[in-house]
Amino acid sequence: MVKAIRFYETGGPEVLKYEDVAVGEPGPGQARVRHSYIALNFIDIYFRTGRYPLALPEGAGSGLGSDAVGVVEAVGPGVDYLQPGDRVGYLIGPQGAYSQARVMPAEVLIPLPDGISDRTAATLMMKGMTAQYLFRQVYPLKGGETILYHAAAGGVGLIACQWARALGVTMIGTVSTDEKAEIAKANGCAHTIVTSRENIVERVKEITNGKGVPVVYDSVGKDTLMDSLDCLQPRGHFVSNGTSSGSVVVDSQLLAQKGSIWMTRPAMVHYIHPRAHMLDMARELFDHVLAGDIVSEPQQTFALADAAEAHRALESRKTTGSTVLVP
Ligand SMILES: NC(=O)c1ccc[n+]([C@@H]2O[C@H](COP(=O)([O-])OP(=O)(O)OC[C@H]3O[C@@H](n4cnc5c(N)ncnc54)[C@H](OP(=O)(O)O)[C@@H]3O)[C@@H](O)[C@H]2O)c1
Repeated sequence: MVKAIRFYETGGPEVLKYEDVAVGEPGPGQARVRHSYIALNFIDIYFRTGRYPLALPEGAGSGLGSDAVGVVEAVGPGVDYLQPGDRVGYLIGPQGAYSQARVMPAEVLIPLPDGISDRTAATLMMKGMTAQYLFRQVYPLKGGETILYHAAAGGVGLIACQWARALGVTMIGTVSTDEKAEIAKANGCAHTIVTSRENIVERVKEITNGKGVPVVYDSVGKDTLMDSLDCLQPRGHFVSNGTSSGSVVVDSQLLAQKGSIWMTRPAMVHYIHPRAHMLDMARELFDHVLAGDIVSEPQQTFALADAAEAHRALESRKTTGSTVLVP
């Protein structure tokens, strides 16, 4: 038996239960991983609250989480690319990362290089890979652009700040407090907009001499939608990559009115396959970390048993950077 977080109904953080669960032997194509760190992501909140549907069978409920690092303990038949003792991390696959150990599909496991600690890797798997696919695949940045990025001091945000700097991109980042602005700037965000006291559109126009930006990466959603569209140049790209403040619904006529805007709502799952491509994405991310372009450590650490507390902190905008759970 291992300890794990499970939930049986959607709702507030209190629905998360810390329980004993059985972990079996890996079957064909599977591996058993013992976690050293589990990463908290905003998507975990969407699943917990029911905003993203998840099957919760009567009496069985569900595990939570899709992002962790650890060591392979055993592999099942047909898994010849991993061995017991390998350090690995992952960011996709079935829910259930909030656990001391688990059996899972081996094909989603990414070997971790020497030189990157488990603690750092736990901040990179989902969040660094998200920065990779946003900046290198969804709207590929060439260098020299000025971009608008929302929640710049968040988990994905702090890595995005550093990745933008490494690419020679000028990032304008939104944050809710002056303290978060300082953190974003220290991580390479060239300009910050403190949303509690500054007007996003006015500041973007000021910084870009009235031109606006070619792309907005907007993970905040409902609260920032109209500002994001108003900050774009004609034929600009609106990348709606999250809904931390609530869902967005966009009438296509609005996109025409705002300047023939291109809009996409990207999901990682459509940018990470096949496995060879996932490993290339990870290689690019790890190379930036090994080169020192991206420095990433958890900013908040909770015991796995205190996952509910960690959720409260993330939901109430009290965190900066990455948050990890220690099993
Ligand atoms: N599409 C994908 O494939 C994908 C993959 C990974 C993550 N994401 C999305 O990227 C975003 C960032 O994820 P993360 O885990 O790194 O979280 P995070 O950015 O660390 O936390 C969310 C941040 O959003 C800001 N925010 C603005 N309004 C908010 C509100 N009403 N409630 C809560 N937060 C609000 C807060 O920053 P301020 O206080 O500074 O405003 C908060 O710290 C999330 O929306 C997530 O769903 C998408």
